[in-house]
Amino acid sequence: MMIIGFIGLGNMAQAIIAGMRNSPGFSDGPILGCDHNEGKRREMAERFGVTVLFDDLAVAQQADVLVLAVKPQALPALFKRIVPRRKAGQCALSLAAGKTIDYLGKALGEGCPVIRAMPNVAARVGGSVTALCGNEQVTEAQHALATEVFEAVGFAVWVKEAHMSAFSTITGAAPAFTFLYLDALASAGLKAGLPKSMAMEAACRMVMGAAKLVMETGEHPLALIDQVTSPGGTTIEGMHALKALGFEHALHEAVKAVREKESSLGENV
Ligand SMILES: NC(=O)c1ccc[n+]([C@@H]2O[C@H](COP(=O)([O-])OP(=O)(O)OC[C@H]3O[C@@H](n4cnc5c(N)ncnc54)[C@H](OP(=O)(O)O)[C@@H]3O)[C@@H](O)[C@H]2O)c1
Repeated sequence: MMIIGFIGLGNMAQAIIAGMRNSPGFSDGPILGCDHNEGKRREMAERFGVTVLFDDLAVAQQADVLVLAVKPQALPALFKRIVPRRKAGQCALSLAAGKTIDYLGKALGEGCPVIRAMPNVAARVGGSVTALCGNEQVTEAQHALATEVFEAVGFAVWVKEAHMSAFSTITGAAPAFTFLYLDALASAGLKAGLPKSMAMEAACRMVMGAAKLVMETGEHPLALIDQVTSPGGTTIEGMHALKALGFEHALHEAVKAVREKESSLGENV
């Protein structure tokens, strides 16, 4: 059995470990972890039976799959401490945005199996869409284990590393766009006279249902729009208003802005 260890028990590690404990493959096996923060260590030990070790080096010396669940800027200092003494043959699984396989491989030492994963905030409720990629050193067993870990918090898909950034723009940044859309819809419902809680629930359930319809029928969204806009009807009026105000253009610009900012920050900073 491969031992998984987490360096960092912050927001994302907590969501992943909670999902793992709800999944049959990880419900009672050992999960190692460490964090600078005493409160996080205690909570993860009490709630999820995480075996909390003394520090990052102790986790790196024992884990077969080492999850790097720290902010990207914390990685250089972490590597300095663990690289010379980490467990041989260990696979590193990084959650750090923008840190490439090449960067991670060089930092961790030639020949190190490296996996990058980009989960999103919905991991907290088992609804993450996670993109994964890895280098050639990753074994079948490590690949399968990483897939199982991220399937415990939602949907997981392996992509080419070149697609990681575009994929994670949609899955990482666009939840915020969707929250804005939900708030705007709910507030429009309120304006139309719906009670507040009912307006938000109606908006959320509608978005889940609409996405489910696209996924389950395989029909193109434009074909579905065609089905719900009858001649001289009400929905077509709303569609025209959205188009006139540049709804699609605004979304394209938002995605472009995220990608421009990402490239201005640069990879591997
Ligand atoms: N949160 C998300 O929705 C999300 C989504 C996709 C990807 N990610 C990625 O996931 C990673 C973790 O993000 P997060 O939001 O979970 O961060 P976080 O909440 O800040 O958690 C990171 C934790 O690791 C601790 N830490 C840092 N270096 C350590 C070390 N050497 N030894 C022990 N503990 C250490 C930090 O403590 P101190 O702060 O005290 O140093 C902090 O408690 C990041 O790379 C982020 O880009 C996050």
